[in-house]
Amino acid sequence: MATADGDRPGAQQWVPEGAGLPALREAVQACRGCELHRDATQAVMGEGPAEARLVVLGEQPGEREDVEGEPFVGPAGTLLDRALADVGLDPAQVYRTNVVKHFRWSGTRGKRRIHQSPKAAHVAACAPWLRAELAELRPEGVVLLGATAGKALHGSSFRVGKSRGRLGEWPERIPTEHPPRWVLTTTHPAAVLRADDRDAAYDALLADLRVAADALAAG
Ligand code: URA
Ligand code: SF4
Repeated sequence: MATADGDRPGAQQWVPEGAGLPALREAVQACRGCELHRDATQAVMGEGPAEARLVVLGEQPGEREDVEGEPFVGPAGTLLDRALADVGLDPAQVYRTNVVKHFRWSGTRGKRRIHQSPKAAHVAACAPWLRAELAELRPEGVVLLGATAGKALHGSSFRVGKSRGRLGEWPERIPTEHPPRWVLTTTHPAAVLRADDRDAAYDALLADLRVAADALAAG
């Protein structure tokens, strides 16, 4: 679907200033910051406790998330929760969200809609929602799941493989009043599910998450 840039004013005008998480969750449903709202069931805002010390950042809601209105409730989310628990992090204490709040898809396979990764322009249009969430949460650390989240923070040339599992500083290109103390990239749980060697991919995910768990434990 070709869309003129004029159809992507960006989310800023729909983001209520200084609003808490519940108000953001309500306001996002009205967002027309880009064209993705048109083909999605609803927007999916982040979910988790306001006092969460850790934010996990994915790409966009998937098919299940689009229907249920909650992030990470499908197969990738189930794997993510297991991995968090396996490194000693209580999944219920983690705030999970996505760089894009509406499901982008094109075509169907049987009854399933086929996921399409958001473009950089969608990520840029949607960024005000993420900034508002982070301003409210002020987490200590952020874990980036996969290339879309990595590029959203570190720029389009970012590659997961080169820097995964290492604590880095919050990038200056994303200004925030209270930047998280560290940011760490790992693979996306959906990529673990697709991997030829799932056990190895899962172990690598755990190794990365352990670094995040240790950083939180060190406070
Ligand atoms: N994958 C994501 O990146 N986010 C979700 O919410 C679900 C699957
Ligand atoms: Fe707004 Fe983001 Fe949805 Fe686009 S994807 S309409 S910017 S909430």
